Amino acid sequence: MFRRCLIILLLSFSSLYSQNIDYKNAVVSSANELASEVGINIIKQGGNAVDAVVGVAFALAVVYPQAGNIGGGGFLVYRSADGFETSIDFRETAPRLSSKNMFLDEQGNVIPNLSTLGHLGSGIPGSVAGLLYALDKYGTLPREKVLSYAINLAEKGFYINSELANSINSNKEEFIMFEGSSKIFGKKFRKGELFIQTDLANTLKEISLKGRDGFYKGWVAQRIIEEMKRGNGIITLEDLASYNPVERKVLKGEYKNFDIITMGPPSSGGMCIIYLFNILENYNLKSLGRTSLDYINLLSEAMKRVYADRSEFMGDIDFYKVPIEELISKTYAKNRFENFQFGKVIASDNIEPGKIKKESTQTTHISAADSKGNMVSLTTTLNDSYGNKVVVDGAGFLLNNEMDDFSVKPGVPNIFGLVGNEANAIEPGKRMLSSMTPTIILKDSKPFMVVGSPGGGKIITSVLQTLLNVIEFDMDLQEAVDAPRFHHQWLPDLLQVEKTLLSRNMIKKLSDIGYELKFVSDFGRVEAVMFNSDGTLSGHSDKRGSGKAIGF
Ligand code: GLY
Repeated sequence: MFRRCLIILLLSFSSLYSQNIDYKNAVVSSANELASEVGINIIKQGGNAVDAVVGVAFALAVVYPQAGNIGGGGFLVYRSADGFETSIDFRETAPRLSSKNMFLDEQGNVIPNLSTLGHLGSGIPGSVAGLLYALDKYGTLPREKVLSYAINLAEKGFYINSELANSINSNKEEFIMFEGSSKIFGKKFRKGELFIQTDLANTLKEISLKGRDGFYKGWVAQRIIEEMKRGNGIITLEDLASYNPVERKVLKGEYKNFDIITMGPPSSGGMCIIYLFNILENYNLKSLGRTSLDYINLLSEAMKRVYADRSEFMGDIDFYKVPIEELISKTYAKNRFENFQFGKVIASDNIEPGKIKKESTQTTHISAADSKGNMVSLTTTLNDSYGNKVVVDGAGFLLNNEMDDFSVKPGVPNIFGLVGNEANAIEPGKRMLSSMTPTIILKDSKPFMVVGSPGGGKIITSVLQTLLNVIEFDMDLQEAVDAPRFHHQWLPDLLQVEKTLLSRNMIKKLSDIGYELKFVSDFGRVEAVMFNSDGTLSGHSDKRGSGKAIGF
């Protein structure tokens, strides 16, 4: 009796908790409540969704230094209310002095940590150039206004939450290796303490005053070069001054009555998610059930083929002829999956990349939309948490360790366990392959969802399962985002699952048909906004993080 009452009580609490709030005007979802508030304030003051995400991205560089950044890069996918679509690639590039084997020793072995910890790990940061490009071209508010929120948070400080305090404290050993990082992050932090970042505020003010030149030229650039000298880094003034974001055509796919509008190369995310949808549309997922053996088997085997192809064919389109059309074609997906049978697992060793003629924790996502139908999906990253852990001394911001997203040696996994080959080898000026999947979905040609996630290789499968949960399993947004997920990336040959997904019985069944299971806790943090059928908007920030969707 007591147990039954307890269950009823828990169920009623969880249904209360799972109630989505519907907003009339706009929603912004990001990894930090203060940053989401910035976005909503910008919209309330007359800004559009682009103004909002740019303001949020700069604010995240202050309040969410794990991944929010001005020393990293990212991708933005935009669809305006009148149907104009574009994407902005501000992925970092390899320095001119970089070379294919720069992370290998004389015997050709990968030197541990060289691409992840310290100065050599950093690509040329793209965030400032990319965000300001988006703002100039598609925003409506002045740069000074949009940046003022981030400047304020850095200058006056904010009270840090327990997630940030614990996260900084647990990385302290690495921070104290570098002078600039030690000054900012080298002490023990406590939840609730005021965190003021004067150097970062000065850098942001310089950007506010001078635009991109305030970062890529002048005293901030000089500080980056001085920082490079302290740690044998190779980024030069010329590298900085010549960095440019690239506006690219969005990548498009279709799944039933849904349009997928997403990021093309140098991200693998868009190609992989369209490829996965192309395989899955040949099956009746709803009838399989979201936690059935057949569903997990089907998706895992699809993921294995897609990630095998990612390792072989995907890289920076400006340096390598990525066979995009073939990879996202429905025929290729069908043929590639011909040998799939329910109940059968093909070991990754026996799955080769497909046959195509040859002619990529920490990242963070912002989803924003307004009731007119403007939608922006922006993912930005330092790669690992706090990037290469190096704060540019005197300028107060962290650099990325995105060089590790290149294939530093064919077949050798990066920090996410992903392998690569020639397509993603290091070359000066080249952009490293990414898994970031900022995505916009239309339903019956009308605005439906804005979605994206951090999570390295798991970004693609986190976005995929969130979308399938809504499209196929009729979940509301919060349930769809929070539901436990699984992931297979071909190599290592492991089915990675969140503990709460599987019953003991299902674990046994999956093992019996040949899967090696690995239970993981870090599984993306989806930020999503959805247009409801009554014209209102809802948003949800993944329960795996401590972010917030805010609307009005
Ligand atoms: N740095 C993670 C990604 O771009 O995939």
